[in-house]
Amino acid sequence: MPLPVTLARADTPHGEVALRRRGGVVELIVNGVFAMDSAETASELALADAAPLGRVLVGGLGLGYTAARLLDRGARHVDVVELAGPLLDWARAGLVEPLGRVAADPRVTLHHADIADWIADRPGPWDAVLLDVDNGPSFLIHDHNARVYDATLLAAFVERLAPGGVLLVWCEARSPALLTTLDAVLAARAGSRSGAGPTPRASEIIVPVRREGRRFDYALYRAERPQ
Ligand SMILES: C[S@@+](CC[C@H](N)C(=O)[O-])C[C@H]1O[C@@H](n2cnc3c(N)ncnc32)[C@H](O)[C@@H]1O
Repeated sequence: MPLPVTLARADTPHGEVALRRRGGVVELIVNGVFAMDSAETASELALADAAPLGRVLVGGLGLGYTAARLLDRGARHVDVVELAGPLLDWARAGLVEPLGRVAADPRVTLHHADIADWIADRPGPWDAVLLDVDNGPSFLIHDHNARVYDATLLAAFVERLAPGGVLLVWCEARSPALLTTLDAVLAARAGSRSGAGPTPRASEIIVPVRREGRRFDYALYRAERPQ
């Protein structure tokens, strides 16, 4: 395996963030640990492909694959909220693709914030909210992201969807607990509305990928706000 070359690195209040190139592959380091690379992006693209278009909120810029796919599919506007400020600077500088393309697209607004805080006074609505900020509730890169997968915040994201809008959450492995939490969020919301139809259920989309000869089942969790 070729040695990595550091393209950019910075220390942030939330740890080290870096972009590295290893051969033809770009790697993203977040909080000092490997977060993703450009070699296998099927699940990042699947996340975008599962979203209805229109106005879309993306939590976590990463290497920009999800946001770029939304733009390619014809999204009207994409809000991207990213915790690591230097990553936004590198995107604006066009350091690597597709980050540069995302930052340069007039349909994109980049926000430097923790999405768990940022959402509090943003009413939306969005046609889709896509969360890919961490590995999932059981294997966190940032401990403080545990709240992103809690019912309180997930309910807040669902409330900010337009009718028929969809919340999608990326996980590096299946998470029955997250599915249960999303079901509970939808049930609580339906229960508080008299005369509503059958209780909507969340669903799971498995995205099998192969990395270095091994199979991984990445998972997307989907909750739709009823019309
Ligand atoms: C795995 S990457 C996202 C990958 C992205 N879907 C793509 O296609 O390249 C996760 C990103 O979320 C950011 N992040 C982590 N916690 C966050 C938070 N609480 N709010 C916003 N962004 C966060 C990380 O800095 C990182 O850039």
